Amino acid sequence: MAKKLDGRQLANKMQLELQEEVSRWSENNQRLPKLVVILVGEDTASQVYVRNKEKAAKKIGILSEVVKLNDTISEKELLSLIATYNADDTVDGLLVQLPLPKQINEEHVLLAIDPKKDVDGFHPMNVGKLFVGSPNMVPCTPFGIVTLLKENGVVLAGKKVVIIGRSNIVGKPLMHLLLQEDATVTIAHSKTKDLKAETLTADILVVAIGQAEMITADYIKPGAVVVDVGMNRNHEGKLVGDVNFSEVEPIASFITPVPGGVGPMTITMLMEQTVRQVREENQKRSL
Ligand code: GUN
Repeated sequence: MAKKLDGRQLANKMQLELQEEVSRWSENNQRLPKLVVILVGEDTASQVYVRNKEKAAKKIGILSEVVKLNDTISEKELLSLIATYNADDTVDGLLVQLPLPKQINEEHVLLAIDPKKDVDGFHPMNVGKLFVGSPNMVPCTPFGIVTLLKENGVVLAGKKVVIIGRSNIVGKPLMHLLLQEDATVTIAHSKTKDLKAETLTADILVVAIGQAEMITADYIKPGAVVVDVGMNRNHEGKLVGDVNFSEVEPIASFITPVPGGVGPMTITMLMEQTVRQVREENQKRSL
């Protein structure tokens, strides 16, 4: 039976450590980190994600501001708002929740965010730094996955990792983070000829496809580590991942539950990257 990769537990521990760090700064009258989250429109999933980010920030003591905008806002108006926050020295982290309404070009928005405040790691400058092997700000879900694996003692060097999903948010940045850790990485996707042939070679399988419980036991090499990035509702309305947990759990060595696996780690890494923005400055001052 697989050991659970408990993201909720690790996230709680890391958030507590961040909270202690920030409260020391507060006691010493040092600068507190501030995160601004821009939410455009009424996308239900985005509303939940943003609420969870706000809650985590509050718990840690990060100052936070959620800016809710109507989905009819023009690209020009959004870009001008981003420019205002870029210029505001009290703002350390700035992110625009995706997806965006049709009239707004996502690439223009991601390019507009000051790379120094890009706590999501989506700006092409930060993407490029990750690509060349000197990461600064990195996308939070892949960062959370690598942290969860390492903290549970999963060795990455030399391991064969198969990632299903090639998105800019998960698959592609995760590939680079894992290369940094000396893993051998394959990305499979919807056009991969024989998916099962690929996944059966994986020491570590990461699934980010958005198909409820698609990955069954026959896709898994016995003893593999299985990371499920999916968040879907099944036909009964229950929250499930992309992996059929009850089938895969008996043959895997480690597995992430859904919920309580990757999700809580994503938010924690966002908080970590926001706190990091002022860490160096505050540590210098207290010397
Ligand atoms: N939409 C889905 N995941 C994310 C994320 O990590 N950041 C942002 N900004 N939008 C998202």
